[in-house]
Amino acid sequence: MMRQRKILQNVEGYVPGEQPKFPNIVKLNTNENPYPPSPKVVEAVRRLNENAIRKYPDTVSLELRSALAAHYGYPGPEWVVVSNGMDELLAMAMRAFTDPNDKILSCYPTYILYEKLALLHGARPVLIDLDDDFLLTEQFFETAARLCFLPRPNSPSGVAVPQQDVDRFCRVFDGLVVIDEAYVDFSDDSCIDFAKKFDNAIVMRTMSKSFSMAGMRVGFGFAQPDLVAELMKVKDSYNMSAASQAAGLAALDDKDWMEANIAKVRATRARLTDELIRLGFAVPPSRSNFVLAQWNGTPNARNIFESLRERAIVVRYFNAWRLENALRITVGTDSEIDTLLAALREILNK
Ligand SMILES: Cc1ncc(COP(=O)(O)O)c(C=O)c1O
Repeated sequence: MMRQRKILQNVEGYVPGEQPKFPNIVKLNTNENPYPPSPKVVEAVRRLNENAIRKYPDTVSLELRSALAAHYGYPGPEWVVVSNGMDELLAMAMRAFTDPNDKILSCYPTYILYEKLALLHGARPVLIDLDDDFLLTEQFFETAARLCFLPRPNSPSGVAVPQQDVDRFCRVFDGLVVIDEAYVDFSDDSCIDFAKKFDNAIVMRTMSKSFSMAGMRVGFGFAQPDLVAELMKVKDSYNMSAASQAAGLAALDDKDWMEANIAKVRATRARLTDELIRLGFAVPPSRSNFVLAQWNGTPNARNIFESLRERAIVVRYFNAWRLENALRITVGTDSEIDTLLAALREILNK
């Protein structure tokens, strides 16, 4: 227990019920939104009464699914599924639609969970390399599989493949296409309607990023009703707590708040990108709330990562092929990004 607490403390600088050990840590490693959620969300959670806590929540989250359908232009709740964060929905799709030994297609590099889920289910992950601009290659379109995880924008590159590529892929692919739009609110356009257009597409979203609600765990997806029915069969009975259902509803009621935060993140992203390029990094065009800063000099990217950590600035370093020379940096507040840039100038002697 003590050991676990210590690990948590070291990673997050925070253990529930205790004073943060590193109150001034600049945490830019997990793509959280640096701005608070809407006050309406906080209020909705505070307002939960004894009964809401004592009793089981609505097992099918009907009110939240209806609100999501209305909000995103779907005919009704039968087109919508909600989950304990999008991670649960990704796992539900594997459980509902794949068998052991099935091929699961995705690209590389991408969100590490896709491969992990495939392996966990005894399936065979097939990861097709992205090109030098982190875009899909012809090989991707030509690969057969039972299910495909297609993130747009992708992580860790931040790049959004053209919408027409997703359209084309849904047409040619024989299996199910999971379009992961975790970061799409920071982008310019989305594939939100694709579940209406294609009977093999599931469009997945989360409130973790754009809505500043990673701790609440609200994921949601849109698909044709027969697919939604299959997903509902494999979910945990009460996969959405009373708090997450209430918070999700309140968040939809204050889209302006979320959009204002997105505008701030996008402005800071542009400034961060420019400054990183000025420092000598190569930065693919990000449509997300993070950037991939590629670096081929001395000190190397891992050393930079470590030097930043010594200064209580935490970014993401992947010890993986094609990413050894890169850091993924979440777009924080302007002041956090100023701190990061000042540290980088110091470390790089610029
Ligand atoms: C590409 C991608 N998809 C899905 C998720 C899952 O988000 P959550 O489970 O917080 O809803 C993440 C989280 O970082 C992500 O990067």
